Amino acid sequence: MIALNTEPMHVLLVGLGNRGNMWAEVIDGLPDAVLSGAMDIDPQRRAVIAQKYPGIPIYDTLGEALTAAGHDAVVLVTPPDGHLAQAEQIFAAGLPLIAEKPLTVSLPDSIKIVAMAEAANLPLTICLNFRYLPVSQAKRRLVLSGDFGAPGMGQFVYQRNRDGLRPGLNRYPLSMQHPMMLEQSIHHLDLIRYCYDREVVSLSCRTWNPPWSMYAHDSSVQCLLTMEGGLQVNYIGTWTSGWNEPHFLWRTDCADGVIIQRDLFTDIATAARTDTTLTPVPITDARAYYDDTAALLKTFIEARRAGSATPCDGRDHLRTLALCFAGIESSASGTIVDMRQFYERNGLSHLI
Ligand SMILES: NC(=O)c1ccc[n+]([C@@H]2O[C@H](COP(=O)([O-])OP(=O)(O)OC[C@H]3O[C@@H](n4cnc5c(N)ncnc54)[C@H](O)[C@@H]3O)[C@@H](O)[C@H]2O)c1
Repeated sequence: MIALNTEPMHVLLVGLGNRGNMWAEVIDGLPDAVLSGAMDIDPQRRAVIAQKYPGIPIYDTLGEALTAAGHDAVVLVTPPDGHLAQAEQIFAAGLPLIAEKPLTVSLPDSIKIVAMAEAANLPLTICLNFRYLPVSQAKRRLVLSGDFGAPGMGQFVYQRNRDGLRPGLNRYPLSMQHPMMLEQSIHHLDLIRYCYDREVVSLSCRTWNPPWSMYAHDSSVQCLLTMEGGLQVNYIGTWTSGWNEPHFLWRTDCADGVIIQRDLFTDIATAARTDTTLTPVPITDARAYYDDTAALLKTFIEARRAGSATPCDGRDHLRTLALCFAGIESSASGTIVDMRQFYERNGLSHLI
């Protein structure tokens, strides 16, 4: 167990693929964290980490890794369809868990993991690192400041032609169900909740797969979200844009002005109603996927030291996951989904 306030947190890293390598760098680079072990079922992945971080114990089974003493927490970076079984083992070993998003690809399985963590009284954090991008923090501050009045409508556009066969990218989204919603839109829907600091009341959604898609299942998502306070948000996200040049826009129209973000990772500006030009909002530079993840890990460690709730916890994540699955339901049924009723139908009411 972490010697609070003095020792760095010893982290076992499970899953050493594309994102696991980023995590290794983040843990290794943070003074308050130490890699206490690394595990993957793939010998090649293990060899890469062994070479990059000599001296770190490397394991080929989760059981062996968990039996070894000296871990304060586990960072789980395997494909999401294995998370339930792995979380069972991790909690049985008495260790806190930071799991990559999505917690699982099934709402009932995610509910089980959250319940397991709570029954074992162990912290569970899901890695929604985009919340920690300086641009996201700036957006949230601007909205909460009320400087431009109440937000009334949002437009979130993410259009990308993602080559799922590109070396260095994971392969499983090519064959999974709802890759766009569960792998990518989940980040965006989470940002919408986080930056507007409110929940979705109801939603209408379409998911689909354009004929030229390399993905086996729906690579495009479009939603109209009605949020608390009457805020209406129009969302479109795709991995199968017709142009290799990515396009991003997140515009928020408020009573007295606009907040406009032109890049997922940076570039935010504002204008009051009568301004003729936008004024950029200064934000610190950040290395996307690394600095935001380091900020999340730092917050996790600080919370453990303070004995307070860890960030992006299970119940919080269930709300974002519920949006993904409510969107999938809305698309299949052609109906508007009321979130309160969705929580009740899916056994979530007591959790969120
Ligand atoms: N938060 C982010 O910004 C972000 C970015 C990319 C990926 N991710 C998430 O990270 C997770 C992993 O994605 P990735 O891109 O690294 O995938 P990947 O396919 O590149 O790597 C997955 C790794 O898990 C290993 N693995 C599979 N089953 C295992 C098991 N039972 N035990 C141990 N290791 C096992 C594989 O051998 C592989 O090395 C996914 O949940 C993904 O959504 C998050």
